Amino acid sequence: MPAASPAAPNLLAISDLHVGYPENRDITDRLRPASSGDWLLVAGDVGERAADITWALRTLTQRFAKVVWAPGNHELWTPKDDPLQLRGEQRYQYLVDLCRGMGVVTPEDPYPVWHGPGGPVTIAPLFLLYDYTFRPDGAATKEAALARAYAAGVVCTDELLLHPDPHPSREAWCAARLAITRRRLADRDPSLPTVLVNHFPLVRAPTRILRYPEFAQWCGTERTSDWHVRYGASAVVYGHLHIPRTTWHDGVRFEEVSCGYPREWRQRKGEPGIPRQILPSGDRAGG
Ligand SMILES: [Fe+2]
Ligand SMILES: [Fe+2]
Repeated sequence: MPAASPAAPNLLAISDLHVGYPENRDITDRLRPASSGDWLLVAGDVGERAADITWALRTLTQRFAKVVWAPGNHELWTPKDDPLQLRGEQRYQYLVDLCRGMGVVTPEDPYPVWHGPGGPVTIAPLFLLYDYTFRPDGAATKEAALARAYAAGVVCTDELLLHPDPHPSREAWCAARLAITRRRLADRDPSLPTVLVNHFPLVRAPTRILRYPEFAQWCGTERTSDWHVRYGASAVVYGHLHIPRTTWHDGVRFEEVSCGYPREWRQRKGEPGIPRQILPSGDRAGG
């Protein structure tokens, strides 16, 4: 257990709350900090519909001292039954404005510094998307990778609902986000370590246990494979895979913090939707 007293603030993280499911909405409604100073990192897939996303983030801001959000692919969908029909960049900007109105930190805001136990650490929420470079073995191109996914029947719904407008493709949007984010990270205080928060894993290794390797092409980009080292990460927080666990890459702790769908969390031991403690780091080596 961490050495900090119960009253000391913690840096906590969760992702993939998917509050469109009533059971997950209940989990979100029950989320409480252990200390009045706790921060909550929310690594995407809060929900799909603007009203759901608004409800969830507003609820969390009423409980936690600070909420930091990075978008998941589901927030970027344009569901046919959502009154908000904005697509792509416009939808993302709408969500950023929504967050700012509630005091939620987004990838477009100055990176906050955690000064609690385990700090000072720069908290960097990232929006990077994916670019089909996590291809299945033997697939040399995006087209070949997609064909393999269609054949296996595991095509991500993003192909239908995540529109990249005005970019010509999701991978072009990803390239633009990588360029913007590299500049932002280069401008951070280099004397502080970071906690990088991204919906998708920054390295490919955690996707190797996916049941369908064809799905990995929607799970990140090879272009971030050294970011945890390059940008001095003391921890990397991500979700999307719905496989909550801790792994270590080049000595850096990666935390997959998904709640996931009811059919997934019902199969796990323990209570669903408990935020993961990121800092102070506690005794997790090898976990
Ligand atoms: Fe998810
Ligand atoms: Fe996701």
